[in-house]
Amino acid sequence: MTTTTDSITVDGDKLMDFVFRAVDEVGATLNAALVVMGDKLGYYRILADKGPLTSAELAESSGTALPYAREWLNAQAAGEYLTYDPASTRYTLPPEQAAALTMEDSPAFLPGFFQLALGTVRDADNLLSAARSGAGFGWHEHVSDVHIGCERFFRPSYHANLVESWLPALDGVVDKLQRGATVADVGCGHGASTILMAQAFPNSTFVGSDYHPESIATATSRAADAGVSDRVRFEVAAANAFSGSGFDLVTMFDCLHDMGDPVGAARHVRAAVAADGTWMIVEPMAGDHIEDNLNPVGRAYYGFSTLLCTPASLSQDVGLALGTQAGPARIHDVTTAGGFTRFGRVAETPFNQVLEARP
Ligand SMILES: C[S@@+](CC[C@H](N)C(=O)[O-])C[C@H]1O[C@@H](n2cnc3c(N)ncnc32)[C@H](O)[C@@H]1O
Repeated sequence: MTTTTDSITVDGDKLMDFVFRAVDEVGATLNAALVVMGDKLGYYRILADKGPLTSAELAESSGTALPYAREWLNAQAAGEYLTYDPASTRYTLPPEQAAALTMEDSPAFLPGFFQLALGTVRDADNLLSAARSGAGFGWHEHVSDVHIGCERFFRPSYHANLVESWLPALDGVVDKLQRGATVADVGCGHGASTILMAQAFPNSTFVGSDYHPESIATATSRAADAGVSDRVRFEVAAANAFSGSGFDLVTMFDCLHDMGDPVGAARHVRAAVAADGTWMIVEPMAGDHIEDNLNPVGRAYYGFSTLLCTPASLSQDVGLALGTQAGPARIHDVTTAGGFTRFGRVAETPFNQVLEARP
């Protein structure tokens, strides 16, 4: 049915299709909190280890109240995260969901992504006045779920790809790391990438830096736990001011676009890297044109861009606001402005692209 008013003509079927799609998205919005709840209360772990379970059994095993366990299970079953068997009244976490929801090292691990998203959404009220004034909202101002969720989201992908395929894609870098190289990991957050590289290359030394003191404190304790503190140190420093020079490799993992002054950072990297050194830039997967990114990954990343990464950049000097989906051409412009002469995309995954810049 078509309805015409003074201003718009509406196709009734298309309207209802859109409304029902939006109902699914309201469920998905609430599901972000449900996934984080299932992760933090141990529901997924218990279902993976002991399932199929009734709601009473899940409540008992998790030490949580039955009404919460029951309603959570039903929401998860309606969303096809679980299956429900009416005959036994038991819920099952299928093996694929179990892998994605409980295996912290798997590149398919999802709770960190949800934790990052939910933390980001919790801070969204702060952005209304910022959007009106053009002010920023810094990484350091967010709730800790943003920082922890970020680590838990990216680390599995670094674990799967960094040593195995990303570093080997760079010209001559693995040979240097094996012999003994110096590496600066800039904007390192909780140091997941720094520690993975240190574990893989025992002859090399690493300096991780980040402007956020709490992240550096966490990175320092993570390195101690991993037993690599003898070759890894961390410092609080902005990307245009980290210490040291003559580095064989400078790395930036998912942080260049968060910076207010990426060109200033590029100039500092150019001054700090050895003449035959390498700047490895890992950025969110994106094409150069908006239309390249109008897909599910682009949707999530443009969401993070609006609520997290662009406000972070705007909170700093210059406030270039590259955006999470900057794409290789704009990153290339940044490296060129910083004094690098060679540039290329050397690897990619569904979530990340790996860019190599050389002096
Ligand atoms: C999305 S997180 C990525 C953290 C880490 N590299 C990872 O992959 O898990 C972005 C990081 O950039 C850092 N950051 C933002 N602006 C910065 C700047 N100007 N200098 C140094 N670090 C910065 C933030 O503190 C945050 O830790």
